[in-house]
Amino acid sequence: MNLKNLIDSKINGKDISQSDIESLINAFVNNKINDKSMTVFLKAVQTHGMTTKETIALTNAMLNSGERIEFPASDNYIADKHSTGGVGDKVSLILGPLLAAGGLTIPMLAGRSLAHTGGTIDKLESIPGFQTNLSTKDFKNNVEEIGICIMSQTDSICPADKKMYALRDVTDTINSVPLICGSIMSKKIAEGIDGLVLDIKIGNGAFMKTIDQGIKLGSALQNIGKTFDVKTDVVYSSMDQPLGKTAGMWCEVKESIEALKGKGASDLMHVVFELGSKLLVQAGISNDSTAAVSIQKDLIASGKAYNKFEDMVRQQKGSINKVNKIHSPKYEQIIFAHESGFIEEMDSLNIGWATVELGCGRRAKPDILDPSAGIDFIYKIGDEVKMGDPIFKCFNSNKQKLLSATKLLNDSIKIGPSQVNHSLFF
Ligand code: URA
Repeated sequence: MNLKNLIDSKINGKDISQSDIESLINAFVNNKINDKSMTVFLKAVQTHGMTTKETIALTNAMLNSGERIEFPASDNYIADKHSTGGVGDKVSLILGPLLAAGGLTIPMLAGRSLAHTGGTIDKLESIPGFQTNLSTKDFKNNVEEIGICIMSQTDSICPADKKMYALRDVTDTINSVPLICGSIMSKKIAEGIDGLVLDIKIGNGAFMKTIDQGIKLGSALQNIGKTFDVKTDVVYSSMDQPLGKTAGMWCEVKESIEALKGKGASDLMHVVFELGSKLLVQAGISNDSTAAVSIQKDLIASGKAYNKFEDMVRQQKGSINKVNKIHSPKYEQIIFAHESGFIEEMDSLNIGWATVELGCGRRAKPDILDPSAGIDFIYKIGDEVKMGDPIFKCFNSNKQKLLSATKLLNDSIKIGPSQVNHSLFF
């Protein structure tokens, strides 16, 4: 089938064969079809969905677009974690080193910002010198030497996801179950892992707005894990408010360092420990989640988790010697409460777009990010505030962008009479 007919088939809601999906993905990776045609295909998939067979074929084609890593000599449990995307979601930066310190091997391929959600790779690149585009050999060597390496999809590992991810980001084709499945699972399977835990974000700041949509995605991801022999656990966590105390670039790395030193916000650490427990139990290192949580707390209290983070930064040529002097923003603006009461709702989607506006995400492919940009959350859902209290502090190094982010943030909080309880997990 020629590529135009194939794309037309999907536009008309017809199923496409495994070999046609493979040809299309190969053609895109090898620049035989342009962004415009690929966008038509992505939009058709977003509208019509894909069957289980097609989704598996898509994942396989994306996986086979590059190399697959193997760790034949390793006796350790090889594992990874991935989130479907959120605001202030810095869990990978904490959990990766924490689990590597606990004896797991973590070869992590992570993503950049996607729409209004932040990207682990962009955040890590705010560390001066930190390299995220390594050869497969260096990635593997780092993992074998210190137990962890976090890098981006490259031209040799998952190049299909690298190109499709960047295109989806600027063409509004993100929230599609098969496209998310192909993107996440091709990266994860290419890492050569035994096990995986997935954090499916649900809520106003997530791609999946309801638990029903989340379960549909979670089941599809688990089904792919099973097909490719990767033990896959799923956790459903709330994105009805940003996670932790900050959202942005360097500020999230700084918050992660604090968390690894034992000073993490309680919502953030709950998610870290919940996900970490799944992998420690999968690995047979602990029998249940209570034991797994205490292992993780000990790794933080003993300094081992933070030391592993430092090892990873050093190994990837980064430097955090002058943590407090890195990326001081030129401008900042406080947003104050318009009335007294309790914070009842936070519009995490709006808050996410405010971070993009500040310089933490891309509206177009060539956009350059601002490592000094971000938002501090002074209060969260359930907290009592008085009129005039500071609610958000936002900062960056571009005054114009700061002003437009401020406008978005002004409408991002609902204050009312009820002290609502925000639950973190579904
Ligand atoms: N994370 C990914 O890696 N891909 C997606 O499509 C969404 C979240």
